Amino acid sequence: MTDKKIAECIAQMTLEEKAGLCSGAGNWTLKSVERLDVPQITVTDGPHGLRLQKSGEGAHSVKAVCFPPGCASACSFDTALLEEIGAAIAAHCREEKVDVILGPAVNIKRSPLGGRNFEYYSEDPLLAGELAAAFIRGVQKNGVGTSIKHFLANNQETRRLSVSAEVEERTLREIYMPAFEIAVKKAKPWTVMSSYNKINGEYVSDSGEYLTDVLRGEWGFDGVVVSDWGAVNNRVTNLKAGLDLEMPYSGGERDTEIAEAVRSGRLDEAVLDRAVARILKLIARCTAELEKPPFDLEASHAIASRAAAESAVLLKNEGGVLPLREGTKVAFIGKYAEMPRFQGGGSSHINPYKVASALSCAPKGVLFARGFDDATEEIDESLLREAVDTAKEAEVAIIFAGLPEWKESESFDRRDMRLPNGQNELISRVAAACRRVVVVLHNGSPVEMPWINDVAAVLAMGLGGEAVGEACVDLLYGRANPSGKLAESYPYKLEDTPSYLNFPGERDTVRYVEGVFVGYRYYTTKKMDVLFPFGYGLSYTTFEYSNLNLSADKITDKDTLTVSVDVTNTGDVFGKEIVQIYIAPPADGETVRPARELRAFGKVALQPGETKTVTFTLDKRAFSYYNTAMEDWFVESGTYTVVAARSSVDSAPTAPVFVESTLREKIYYTADTPFCDAKRDPRAFELVSHYMRNMDRMDAIFSPEAFEMLLNYMPLRNVMNMNGYGAKDLEALLEKLNALE
Ligand code: BGC
Repeated sequence: MTDKKIAECIAQMTLEEKAGLCSGAGNWTLKSVERLDVPQITVTDGPHGLRLQKSGEGAHSVKAVCFPPGCASACSFDTALLEEIGAAIAAHCREEKVDVILGPAVNIKRSPLGGRNFEYYSEDPLLAGELAAAFIRGVQKNGVGTSIKHFLANNQETRRLSVSAEVEERTLREIYMPAFEIAVKKAKPWTVMSSYNKINGEYVSDSGEYLTDVLRGEWGFDGVVVSDWGAVNNRVTNLKAGLDLEMPYSGGERDTEIAEAVRSGRLDEAVLDRAVARILKLIARCTAELEKPPFDLEASHAIASRAAAESAVLLKNEGGVLPLREGTKVAFIGKYAEMPRFQGGGSSHINPYKVASALSCAPKGVLFARGFDDATEEIDESLLREAVDTAKEAEVAIIFAGLPEWKESESFDRRDMRLPNGQNELISRVAAACRRVVVVLHNGSPVEMPWINDVAAVLAMGLGGEAVGEACVDLLYGRANPSGKLAESYPYKLEDTPSYLNFPGERDTVRYVEGVFVGYRYYTTKKMDVLFPFGYGLSYTTFEYSNLNLSADKITDKDTLTVSVDVTNTGDVFGKEIVQIYIAPPADGETVRPARELRAFGKVALQPGETKTVTFTLDKRAFSYYNTAMEDWFVESGTYTVVAARSSVDSAPTAPVFVESTLREKIYYTADTPFCDAKRDPRAFELVSHYMRNMDRMDAIFSPEAFEMLLNYMPLRNVMNMNGYGAKDLEALLEKLNALE
């Protein structure tokens, strides 16, 4: 439908029809307007598969391939893979006549305890944003819409419908917004889902600042803002703020409220028409003629299997215990070898097409013991004894451990970072009985590993989707080579985490006191050791980096910088390496910034002995921080360090680049402005120096360095006063200073 057609349609609609179109017809459908040929469209949950509930079938959803949830797929760092998954899910949507899939979910993992972390991608906004953009591209190019969620700062489940996230503007801009910003700018999702929570005291769904000024004004979003299910409080307020569609059905009450508000003049009809126009445009997008992509559950399952293998992270592999050699006597231990944990609980729960367990894919002769009962924390002595006896018969014991569903799910946050006691005890006892122990983890978020020094290898499969078992066996036996890296840090213990004292907050308030220091930004800046860092992961081969090359050693913030690095596979098997480009700020910078931040990444496939050059382009944003006084991204002039790294803690190779700002940091001078701030602009310095005739008296009692600092921190009123100038002169100086462009 063209804009003209949409306007014509709106002109023919009654007030009630228009108000009605702004809320669902049911849980998963929008209303149609039959007399005007406006069809009904259907939305359903995902995001890692299709959760289509058909009417009359209760909570059951259709069988669909369960792809690896975000916690796992993000570890692939592979945008092409995310696009492929998106396309496969879209093909299923088209088959089932679903018009919009409710994903991707991109909220930042502020704390490892976040109940929905398994659905989310990362603690890093660039990684989350790029993966989300790729997923959206894959879905939407096949004629199905997406709903990137949950906008904004929905980083916990505790009190998610009432909590207020108290977050500073800079932190929002640098950490919690960019995943949405990148996806909106690069992939244009057809809808954005507004979150349940408040930010700084105001419900996001009521916020014109976020839903309109930022989303549409700054980022150019041109789709529909849809409420999270039940996130509407004051319908008239949030319609004005830019929330177009309320989901699900509100029983008609709020449609009446909208119509009455228009009639009484409380709501401008143009605001309603704007929302209706956006919804009609969405309906037109969803119903445009487009060839149906081929749909095949088996083919999708194969993608899920490949994705699970690409997303697994090898965390430890002492003595090259993995891959397992042919003929090795192996025992699989743990319930999850037989019944893998592969997805989390809640609205993203997929009814899997088929689940492959590792045991069912294992070679003949592999021994098995169940090891634990995951319904409880408790230790089951008889299962433990049986597991130890089985392990004793094997050369290598593989323990399939993980978090049970009751430990991680939508609607509550985890209380600790521990595996259930029974599993920790199982790992320790088996490790005492068998020389070579491998732990396979099925976890949606990091866990503490008190037994890490007692086991030879750890392979983190995450919650890997329905094909996790077969992918795992391929990796264990070397038919596939691990190539994932951690999309979130694994601290030693919960107490080490940056939000430890402020998660999930007190009653209805949670303060984001750690600011921009989330995840590795905190650990690297504090030089704090973690169990496994963000961006870390091993392979069965080894890689060497060389020839880090920058296109220039000096640029301005208007230029781009091309960074290239050679990566060589120095081992003897095929493998893939994830190259990460971090930027470290100038050492003498005035702004408190993370020690390094991920600014680009890429995955490269290499045959043994092969070298490839990987190239990245960085622009102003890579060097900027958000300057709240200027309300803009700002590059502090100085020497930045480009790091081409294997992980967030890797140190080589690096190269310096001087970046010069073309913007002058806007300072509003007052009597309280310290002299050091005026010194930053040579013109201001000159103006102030003009009044400084009386300062040398201090030389006798201060060293030159101390005197310089004393002066630096002196507000302009004192500078003037000490030099014998009064209020009038101060006023004249401030006027001149504030006139500087
Ligand atoms: C969740 C959303 C989901 C919606 C519909 C909400 O409770 O937060 O992620 O899409 O329900 O099931």
